[in-house]
Amino acid sequence: MRIGCRIRLLSLAAGFAVAVSLAADDADLPVFGEIMRGLERDLSTATQALVREDWESVRAAAEAIADHPEPPMSERRRIMARATSRDIPVAEVRATDQEVHKAAGELADAARRGDMDDALRHHAEVIRGCVACHDMMRPEEGLPPLR
Ligand code: HEC
Repeated sequence: MRIGCRIRLLSLAAGFAVAVSLAADDADLPVFGEIMRGLERDLSTATQALVREDWESVRAAAEAIADHPEPPMSERRRIMARATSRDIPVAEVRATDQEVHKAAGELADAARRGDMDDALRHHAEVIRGCVACHDMMRPEEGLPPLR
């Protein structure tokens, strides 16, 4: 009982420390839109490299998508507040993010094997994940057009 209590306190303290360090780092982290534009660039690179069968570039771009940086806490809160205001379960939004990470990892694996059929399948899954989240979560005015 005593020990359990102490462990709970310790994990509370650890959680607090993580929250504080996240808040302190916020200024250094790219904001949501920048992360998204990075994903878009990496996806374009992966697509171009697929057409050229440049497997090393496909792998690198897919890994960059799979390991994309986390948005800062404040941005995550802003986006999750949008989900809540639209009655969308946060778990559903997270699931689309997981889908993108998983499919991008599988695309990288297919690139390592030079397996075009598999690569194309996972490339499509990546895009399905991007679009699934945008369908739920895009701003009222829509995503900005490509310039
Ligand atoms: C978990 C949800 C989610 C996933 C997954 C997701 N996006 Fe987004 N994306 C958003 C949201 C939300 C916005 C609008 C940003 C805002 O409201 O600040 C956005 C905006 C964008 C924009 C417009 C950025 C701008 O303002 O110029 C691009 C481009 C984009 N996403 C690309 C992608 C690509 C490519 C993928 C997949 C590899 C992807 N996104 C996956 C949620 C997601």
